[in-house]
Amino acid sequence: MAILLVLLYAFLSNPTTVLSAASAPFIPQDNFLIDSGADNAATSPDGRVFKTESQSTQFLKAQDDFKVSIPSADVPSPIYLTARIFVHEATYSFHMTRPGWHWIRLHFFPITNNVFDLQKATFSVTTDKNVLLHTFNVNNTNQAILKEYLVNITDPQFSIKFVPQKNSAAFVNAIEVVSAPDTLITDTATNLSPMTNFQGLPSYAFQTVYRVNMGGPLITPANDTLGRTWVTDEPYLKNKNFAKSVTVAPSVVKYPQGGSPLIAPQMVYASVVEMADANVNQPKFNVTWNFEVDVAFGYMVRLHFCDIVSKALNNLYFNVYINENMAISDLDLSHTMGALATSYYKDIVVNSSMMGHGLSVQIGPSNQGSGDLNAILNGLEVLKMSNTVDSLDGEFGVDGRKEESGSNRGTVAAVGFGMMFGAFVGLGAMVLKWHKRPQDWQKRNSFSSWLLPVHAGDTSFMTSKNGSQKTTLGLGRYFSFSELQEATKNFDSKAVIGVGGFGNVYLGEIDDGTKVAVKRGNPQSEQGITEFQTEIQMLSKLRHRHLVSLIGYCDENSEMILVYEYMSNGPFRDHLYGKNLPALSWKQRLEICIGAARGLHYLHTGTAQGIIHRDVKTTNILLDDNFTAKVSDFGLSKDAPMGQGHVSTAVKGSFGYLDPEYFRRQQLTDKSDVYSFGVVLLEALCARPALNPQLPREQVNLADWAMQWKRKGLLEKIIDPLLVGVINPESMKKFAEAAEKCLAEFGVDRPTMGDVLWNLEYALQLQEAFSQGKAEDESKPSATAVAAAVTPTASSNSENLPVPAESQVPAEVSAIDQHSGTAMFAELANLNGR
Ligand SMILES: *[C@@H]1O[C@H](CO)[C@@H](O)[C@H](O)[C@H]1NC(C)=O
Ligand SMILES: *[C@@H]1O[C@H](CO)[C@@H](O)[C@H](O)[C@H]1NC(C)=O
Ligand SMILES: *[C@@H]1O[C@H](CO)[C@@H](O)[C@H](O)[C@H]1NC(C)=O
Ligand SMILES: *[C@@H]1O[C@H](CO)[C@@H](O)[C@H](O)[C@H]1NC(C)=O
Ligand SMILES: *[C@@H]1O[C@H](CO)[C@@H](O)[C@H](O)[C@H]1NC(C)=O
Ligand SMILES: *[C@@H]1O[C@H](CO)[C@@H](O)[C@H](O)[C@H]1NC(C)=O
Ligand SMILES: *[C@@H]1O[C@H](CO)[C@@H](O)[C@H](O)[C@H]1NC(C)=O
Repeated sequence: MAILLVLLYAFLSNPTTVLSAASAPFIPQDNFLIDSGADNAATSPDGRVFKTESQSTQFLKAQDDFKVSIPSADVPSPIYLTARIFVHEATYSFHMTRPGWHWIRLHFFPITNNVFDLQKATFSVTTDKNVLLHTFNVNNTNQAILKEYLVNITDPQFSIKFVPQKNSAAFVNAIEVVSAPDTLITDTATNLSPMTNFQGLPSYAFQTVYRVNMGGPLITPANDTLGRTWVTDEPYLKNKNFAKSVTVAPSVVKYPQGGSPLIAPQMVYASVVEMADANVNQPKFNVTWNFEVDVAFGYMVRLHFCDIVSKALNNLYFNVYINENMAISDLDLSHTMGALATSYYKDIVVNSSMMGHGLSVQIGPSNQGSGDLNAILNGLEVLKMSNTVDSLDGEFGVDGRKEESGSNRGTVAAVGFGMMFGAFVGLGAMVLKWHKRPQDWQKRNSFSSWLLPVHAGDTSFMTSKNGSQKTTLGLGRYFSFSELQEATKNFDSKAVIGVGGFGNVYLGEIDDGTKVAVKRGNPQSEQGITEFQTEIQMLSKLRHRHLVSLIGYCDENSEMILVYEYMSNGPFRDHLYGKNLPALSWKQRLEICIGAARGLHYLHTGTAQGIIHRDVKTTNILLDDNFTAKVSDFGLSKDAPMGQGHVSTAVKGSFGYLDPEYFRRQQLTDKSDVYSFGVVLLEALCARPALNPQLPREQVNLADWAMQWKRKGLLEKIIDPLLVGVINPESMKKFAEAAEKCLAEFGVDRPTMGDVLWNLEYALQLQEAFSQGKAEDESKPSATAVAAAVTPTASSNSENLPVPAESQVPAEVSAIDQHSGTAMFAELANLNGR
C-alpha cells in the first residue's frame, strides 16, 4: 500500500512525463459540442458526441426560439438533422476552464422546416469581442457549411451571440467551443514585404478560410487529433500540368524537437506537390495555387513542408512567393531541419495592403544551389486575421466601431481582467487594443471629481491637504506628486511589487521611512480606470483590521495614485507554493484563513448594504510583518444587491475561483465570494494553484480534484506533504468540511462567511489542543483529552457540533466588528491554563 501511494504521488507530481509523448492525442480541457435544437445527443462521424442544449453545461438565453428537425436525410453527419432558429438575439454562454486558444466551429445546414426558410435567413454572429459573421446568408447552398475560428479566450465567460437581421431569423445546427493547444499559434510570424518580424498574433482572432493537404487525400476530423479538415489541392491549382504528387507512408514523417501532430498530422506531410517533370521541358517555372479571399482583410498563411522527394540531403533549394512577393527565399530544408522527411512550417502574415485580387501561392526553384530544379509544398493553411475593430467579417466591430481603412493596429496595451497581479499573468491577462479614449481621461483634471457624488455631504472629504491627522473615512492624506516621486525613486522599475490592469504598484518610503505601497493608475487603460474608481469608492467606505487600508492619494497632473499600507510579506499564495519561501505551519495557515474570512465577513455584513468582493483569491490576501492577513483589491467589488441578487451582464473574476452558479445565472450574491474562499482554503491545505493547466486533465481544477478525494474520504492523500503528520486529523476534517460547504453547487447551500469563520476557529482550536496535547504527551504521557476541550457556543451557527461531554468549558466570544450585526468569534479562549 505504501509503495502504491509513493508511486501515485510520483505520478501526480510528475505529469510532464505522462504528457510528453508526441503521438498522444490532444485532450481539450474545454470541449463544448452542442447539437443545437436536438432532443438527443448525436455522434458525429469522427466519434465525437454532440450534446443537446439542455445536457450541456452552457447556458442559452433566447426568446421565441424554435427547435426544428428533419427525420433523416442524406447529410454528412447527424448533427445536421436539427437546428435551432432564433427570431430575436440569442446568446450561448460558456464557462471556460482554461484560457488560451480555442476553436469555435459553427455548423450550418439549411434544413427544410415550417418555421422559416433558412435559405433566406440573414444574421450576424459575434462573441464578446469579435464579429464572426456579418449579415451572413447560406445563399441557396444545400450543403453543410462549416465556419471555423481560432480565438484566444482570456475571460472565464465566453459567449456567442446570434443576431437575426430585421424580419429575418438566425439559425445554427451545431456549435463547437474546444480548447486548442497553446503552441498552435505563437507570438511571432514573418511579415510579407517588408520581410520583418510580425509580433502579437495572440491578440488577433482568426478564421480558417483554407486548409489544404497538397498532393494528398481529404483528411477528415477523425484523422486529425485537433478535429481539423484538410481538403485536396486540385481545385486551387492554376495549371495541373505543372504539378505532380508524391506520397509516402505517414509513418515515414518525423517531427523535429518541439514539433508534433498538433501542428499538422503526419498524413499532411506524407504527401507533397512538386514540380512536374522538373528538369525536363522548360526547366524553370512556378507551381501556382490561387485562392479567393475577402481582400479587405489580412491573412496569416501557414506553409507546411517536409522533404519526402529528395534522395539525399542538400539537393533541394526553392522559393515561395505569396501574391508575387518573395515569402521564403532559398529554402533549404536539409539545412534547416538537418534531415529528410522531417516536418517544418512557416507563418507569413499578408497585410491587407498586399492582397490585390486574392491570394496566390507559388513555389519555384531558386537560382542558388546546385541541386535538382525542384520545389515542394505539403500543406497550406490560410487564416483570416481580425481587423482593427476585431471583426472577421465586415468593417464594424461588436461595439459599432468602424474600421478605418488603411489604419494600423497601433500599440497593444495589456489590460488585466480583474485585478491581475504578477502571479496570474501566465494564465490569462487579456490584451485589449488601445482604441480607448485618452481624451476622456485628459479631460478629467482630477480623478477625485469622480468621487464627489459619493461623498456629497461628507464634510471631511478632502477639505485639507494636510491629512496626517486624518484617519477618518475618506481618502486619507493628500500626497503631492513630487512627494511620491521621491518616495518611489521616481517610480523606479526596480521598486515595482505588483502589476495589474490599472498600472503598477511600487514600494515607496514616506516621511520617516514608513513603507507604503503606491498604486499608480495607468491612464491608458479604461478598464483600469473603472477598477481604480471602484477601489477608491469601496476603500473610502471600509476600514477593518483585515482589509488593506488606504493611506492617501494623489491626483496632481492628471495622475491617479493611491497609497496603501505596505504588506511586507506579500500575497498568501507566495507562501504556499511557487516561491520557495519557508513553509507556513498549519496553525499559521489557519490564522491567515481566519483573518481573511474576518475581512470578508466584514465586507459582507459590515456596511449597510454589504459588499461583494468578486475576486477572492490567494493573491488578493496579503500578509503584513506579523503575517496578519488582509484582503486587498476591491477593483471588482460591488455593493451587494438587495433582494434576489443582481443580474450582472459581465461575469468577472479569476479562473479557478469562479462560482459556477454566478456564472450560470449571472446573479451576484455574497455566496460567490464564499465559493472562491472555498478554493482559497483548498490552496492553503494542498499548497497548489487553483488551476494548473500543466497537470493531467482531472487534476487541473483544484476544487474539482480535491472534492473528488474528499468524497472518497481520502483528502489527506493530496494535502501539502509538509503538513502530513503535523496536522491534527480532526482539525483537517473540520477545515475540509468548511471548504466543501463553501464549494456547494448552489449558493443557498453554502454557509455565510460568519459560519465559515466559526468552523475555521474551531479547526484552529482543535489544532492547538492537539499540538499542546502532543507537547504534554512528551513530558506527561498520561495527559488526556485536552483536544476535546473546545466548546464554542454559537447561537448563529447553523451546525450542531459534537460537544464532548466531560469538558463543557464555555468559550469566550467577543464581537470585534462593531459594524457587524453578527457576533464574531474573535477569540475563542485558549482553554489551556484556565
Ligand atoms: C452569400 O452571398 C453574399 C453576397 O453575395 C456573400 O457575401 C456571402 O459570402 C454568401 N454566403 C455564402 C455562405 O457563400
Ligand atoms: C492570449 O492572450 C493573452 C493576452 O494577450 C496572452 O497573455 C496569452 O499568452 C495568449 N494565449 C496564447 C495561447 O497565446
Ligand atoms: C483515417 O484513420 C483511420 C483510422 O485511423 C484509418 O483507418 C483511415 O485509413 C484513415 N484515413 C485515411 C484517408 O488514411
Ligand atoms: C515565379 O513567380 C515569381 C513571383 O510571381 C516571379 O517573380 C518569378 O519570375 C516566377 N518564376 C518563374 C521561373 O516563372
Ligand atoms: C500594412 O503594411 C503597411 C506597410 O507596411 C502599413 O502601413 C499598414 O498599416 C499595414 N496595414 C495593416 C492593416 O496592418
Ligand atoms: C499637518 O498637520 C500637523 C499636525 O497638525 C502639523 O504638525 C504639520 O506641520 C502639518 N503639515 C503640513 C504640511 O501642513
Ligand atoms: C507586529 O507585532 C508587533 C508586536 O505585537 C507590533 O508592535 C507591530 O506593530 C506589529 N506590526 C504590524 C505591522 O502590525
